[in-house]
Amino acid sequence: MDIFDRQGFRDRPIRALEIGSFEGLSSCFLLRQLPNARLTCVDTWAGSDEHAGLELIASTEAAFDRHVAPWIDRVTKYKGMSFNYLVGLSSQDKFDFIYVDGSHHADDVMVDALRAFEHLNVGGVMVFDDYLWKYYQRNAENPAMAINGFLRLAAGRCRLISVYYQLAIVKTAERGA
Ligand SMILES: C[S@@+](CC[C@H](N)C(=O)[O-])C[C@H]1O[C@@H](n2cnc3c(N)ncnc32)[C@H](O)[C@@H]1O
Repeated sequence: MDIFDRQGFRDRPIRALEIGSFEGLSSCFLLRQLPNARLTCVDTWAGSDEHAGLELIASTEAAFDRHVAPWIDRVTKYKGMSFNYLVGLSSQDKFDFIYVDGSHHADDVMVDALRAFEHLNVGGVMVFDDYLWKYYQRNAENPAMAINGFLRLAAGRCRLISVYYQLAIVKTAERGA
């Protein structure tokens, strides 16, 4: 919320992207807090590794639809893999805010981070959830490994603005600039 205030996201029309929406609770938070935002929600609604075997997964998409219903005119829903969504964007498709909370396997986080960053406006903010999450036995498979790697690759093109369980950056330059 502090970041939203600092970036003036509440007061101007912005485009926001959420990778990983699940039942839509973070989507509702964004829609409530950013009344001038249009939000694209990307999810397979098939769950992630940590959801394997959970019966609840079968009802998450319906729960998402129900939860975001009050703001449906500002919501675009994409059902599918984040990679497919991101590669389908045109170079003109840009966002001011991107929330990365899809698959938490490091390979997927890295792909989401790199591809999404290309579609973040300069001055825009990208937030990674679960930076400190440890689910996989091999450290190299947890989100921090990918996020740290991404930060090295994007050095000089972004500035770190918040680090704790979530990590946030602001984009400062385009590729090659
Ligand atoms: C941690 S949950 C999202 C939670 C939600 N952001 C919240 O805070 O309420 C992760 C979601 O990512 C989705 N997901 C996992 N892998 C994905 C992928 N490759 N592409 C799109 N969505 C994916 C899962 O279906 C799941 O709903």
